[in-house]
Amino acid sequence: MTTGNKDERRKRKMKCLAYIVAGVIAQTLIIVLFVLLVMRIRNPKVRLGSVTVEALSVNSSSSSPSFSMKLNAEVTVKNTNFGHFKFDSSTAKISYRGVDVGEGTIIKARAKARSTKKLNVTVSVSSSKVSTKSLLGSDIKSGVLQLNSHAKLSGKIHLFKIFKKKKSAEMNCTMEVNTTTKAIQNLTCK
Ligand SMILES: *[C@@H]1O[C@H](CO)[C@@H](O)[C@H](O)[C@H]1NC(C)=O
Ligand SMILES: *[C@@H]1O[C@H](CO)[C@@H](O)[C@H](O)[C@H]1NC(C)=O
Ligand SMILES: *[C@@H]1O[C@H](CO)[C@@H](O)[C@H](O)[C@H]1NC(C)=O
Ligand SMILES: *[C@@H]1O[C@H](CO)[C@@H](O)[C@H](O)[C@H]1NC(C)=O
Ligand SMILES: *[C@@H]1O[C@H](CO)[C@@H](O)[C@H](O)[C@H]1NC(C)=O
Repeated sequence: MTTGNKDERRKRKMKCLAYIVAGVIAQTLIIVLFVLLVMRIRNPKVRLGSVTVEALSVNSSSSSPSFSMKLNAEVTVKNTNFGHFKFDSSTAKISYRGVDVGEGTIIKARAKARSTKKLNVTVSVSSSKVSTKSLLGSDIKSGVLQLNSHAKLSGKIHLFKIFKKKKSAEMNCTMEVNTTTKAIQNLTCK
């Protein structure tokens, strides 16, 4: 009778110990997983998906060459993290030979976990700030205008609704406007 009681008590103790060990292991696994996910948080990538040209007008007069157009750009925000990326609105700037020739607004949005968000941005471009004594005239005559587009998205990666980490993504793309076909060619992003 007494030995049976002792056995039972020991069994209960062992069971209790097993539960504690299992609990500690489970918690450790969860913490390790969480730390791994947090450490793996990467910067999202922003690129120009495609760009179309509207209302292109060029004037190749030698005294005052000029160009103007409207660009409809699709901006893609690729988020490879296990949490969504919520970013503030920002400005996409278009420049020509280092001079700002137009800007558009990238509205604030969120890119879901492990997905790519697509946004439309419209930019009115005008060479009014470009010196007419620059290479503008010869570029227009060549039929190709090289434009650069730049934007920086700042926001936070939200992991499991409890953890937030600041991350930003920068876009730096170059493209050529073919003034004959009124189309974009050689669009490359870094
Ligand atoms: C080009 O600009 C010149 C000088 O401003 C102007 O006289 C001419 O009419 C313009 N040409 C076109 C096609 O707009
Ligand atoms: C962006 O514009 C294209 C063409 O106008 C349209 O098909 C697409 O649905 C737009 N995308 C968004 C996210 O508004
Ligand atoms: C503009 O595009 C046309 C058609 O693709 C091409 O033949 C031409 O070479 C391009 N012009 C320049 C200057 O790249
Ligand atoms: C974008 O890339 C070009 C080279 O391709 C570089 O000269 C320029 O400084 C970059 N712009 C920004 C804002 O990082
Ligand atoms: C793209 O750029 C390269 C070098 O700058 C040029 O040789 C090629 O013709 C361009 N492609 C198009 C379609 O214009």
